Amino acid sequence: MTFLWGAATSSHQIEGGNRHNDWWQWEASGNIEGGALSGDATDHWHRFEEDLKLAADLGLNTYRFSIEWSRVEPKEGQWDKSALDWYLALVLECEKRGLQPMVTLLHFTIPQWLAEKGGFTWEHSAEKFAGFTRKVAQHLGAHVPLWCTLNEPNVMVLGQYLAGFMPPAVYNPKLAAVASRNLLLAHIRAYDILHEIKERRGPWASTPLMVGFANNMIDFAPLRRAHPAESILARLFRRFYNSAWPDAVMGRRQHFGVRGLVPFARQVGEGRGRRTCDFIGINYYTRVYVCFGPQQRVVNFARFRSLPVGVCFSREGERVSDLGWVLHPRGMGRMIRYLGRHKVPLIITENGIADHRDQLRPEYLQTHLMEIADMIAKGYDVRGYYHWSLLDNFEWIKGFVPRFGLYEVDYGSFARTPRGSAQQYAQIIARHGGGPPLREKLSSLNDRVPAGLATASAS
Ligand code: BGC
Repeated sequence: MTFLWGAATSSHQIEGGNRHNDWWQWEASGNIEGGALSGDATDHWHRFEEDLKLAADLGLNTYRFSIEWSRVEPKEGQWDKSALDWYLALVLECEKRGLQPMVTLLHFTIPQWLAEKGGFTWEHSAEKFAGFTRKVAQHLGAHVPLWCTLNEPNVMVLGQYLAGFMPPAVYNPKLAAVASRNLLLAHIRAYDILHEIKERRGPWASTPLMVGFANNMIDFAPLRRAHPAESILARLFRRFYNSAWPDAVMGRRQHFGVRGLVPFARQVGEGRGRRTCDFIGINYYTRVYVCFGPQQRVVNFARFRSLPVGVCFSREGERVSDLGWVLHPRGMGRMIRYLGRHKVPLIITENGIADHRDQLRPEYLQTHLMEIADMIAKGYDVRGYYHWSLLDNFEWIKGFVPRFGLYEVDYGSFARTPRGSAQQYAQIIARHGGGPPLREKLSSLNDRVPAGLATASAS
């Protein structure tokens, strides 16, 4: 079986001009650091052919991107065929470039009309998402072998209703519970609709259809080693954050909540005792420390009533990314081991680092792939790796400052330039020849840079 060597992006972060979604409005109200606006983003909307060529130049065999619901259905019930055609063209371009498309249906942004009705707290939201899924499936589903229904529903609920870093940024644990329920229902509906696709076309027509979702996972740890309250809290965070969604889509347990702190969501009957995923996507970046009591450097993660609970992103002296996130490759292995108990294929749907000088990324890439290699060698079923991200992009509340791209984007000219780590990734992929990552093939960091990676010109 060919290992999926890929890179990931999302619509709002790269396309530009997504004026009909909730983020566009939120940005305009000054919620992004430095007053940034997504605006033209990386202008991918006009440069997708060039961008897919850049992806193919790295030797990738897959590309993960998302479909912007607010383009496809800018007003409730009004479908924009030209938007669907654009996504079909994107998928066909993937085929041309030998990139197996992994299509994400929801990557944080929702149409503004839905936001006005309460987003996923609205009782009909799952049905609306099902309608959107159906349209996409009809229009381009025949060409798509890999689907990711929802990107990080755990982060959405946290950001929207508990921690205030996503619109509507209200603190309301009850709404968090309702949104979790409706998102699960939305996922299940989409899972079923996508599996109804009968006709398959293109180079991957006979590849088994796989539908999953992407779970953000953090290796929570107590800030102070062996501190009793922090140790308990770290365990609680792991359960609430890392395992609630995998447990639910595996049909095991629906436990979106924390006893006494965040109310539990009402159960979704359709998901009980039934597995509704063919793979689980792991989006893993870092470790986060849980702190109890007033601490310096602590940010408010989720205001659990008035409990003095917070998180921080590093201990004194640790090496960190431009966002202050600690480098912690061992966490990747731990997350794989943690989900391995579900005995379902795993795909690393995101992993990357904000590093504008590209000083840490080569090591980050190499050491995280080594962890994956070790886990595969131990028998864990990891099918692919998508680096976040193909391009620098609009990093949500942080604006354009954090640079996650294998390709650097000049936001003045929109020129794309490969970073050293892009060349290193290309070398790694070439060395593996479609096989899974192997420690011995990853061991030398100072790989010779392959010639011929083009710098895309401003055009
Ligand atoms: C999200 C991406 C984001 C990345 C880096 C992930 O949680 O899916 O959209 O850019 O983290 O923060």
